[in-house]
Amino acid sequence: MRILFFGDVVGKSGRQATQKYLKRLKDEMSADVVVVNGENSAGGLGINRKSIEEILDAGANVITTGNHAFHWKEWKEVFDNYPMVLFPANYPGLLERSYYTIDGLTVMNLQGRVFMDCIDNPFSAVDKLLEIIPRDTLKLVDFHAEATSEKLAMGYYLDGRVDAVVGTHTHIQTADERCLPNGTLYITDVGMTGPYDDSILGMQKDAVISKFLNNRPVRYEVAEGRSIVSAVLINLDKDNRSIKRLSVIE
Ligand SMILES: [Fe+2]
Ligand SMILES: [Fe+2]
Repeated sequence: MRILFFGDVVGKSGRQATQKYLKRLKDEMSADVVVVNGENSAGGLGINRKSIEEILDAGANVITTGNHAFHWKEWKEVFDNYPMVLFPANYPGLLERSYYTIDGLTVMNLQGRVFMDCIDNPFSAVDKLLEIIPRDTLKLVDFHAEATSEKLAMGYYLDGRVDAVVGTHTHIQTADERCLPNGTLYITDVGMTGPYDDSILGMQKDAVISKFLNNRPVRYEVAEGRSIVSAVLINLDKDNRSIKRLSVIE
């Protein structure tokens, strides 16, 4: 089983880059399942029916989310109608909507708490989740979190209990992909799929700089220009388990 995982898709540019590159990379890499984090896919923050439809149409099988999933009211419509769109398990009441099984792979979604909203404990949530997911499937976790320490701790906590733990949320790809001692494949952050030039994490740089200079609220707009596609290819074949970073700038 080979899994292609795209990091946080940001806005229209991110969706267009996903449409342009997903099928191409899937074919080139002979991927069986494609997972995309879509938490920023609608206007740079959140999800809606249109952004989800476009990512699915591009070839994604499962869409994970994170802290921005609830930005638009329309998230509830997505929640009710798209079972392959996941929400972090440790939001109160969302455990049952945090996993999806396709072709023998169960994808799970969790969220961190360090420098983020203080939701339920992701470590105890994943223990509960592992009890309710289908038995005898391969297991991939998207841990949507800010702090590298919390992500690495989750990787080691799940080492040997799931097949792969990939981090999302920071929009910057890390170079620490590895196989942990008990066989779990791990990367701290997959990175972003979205605007790269003159952009800070996908948003126009001037607004972000202004926020740091003046400390007053600003309106963030999705940047324009070339996009970056940040992804990983996870190979779970018995003799050839590996995780490989992919990064394409248009
Ligand atoms: Fe994000
Ligand atoms: Fe996030």
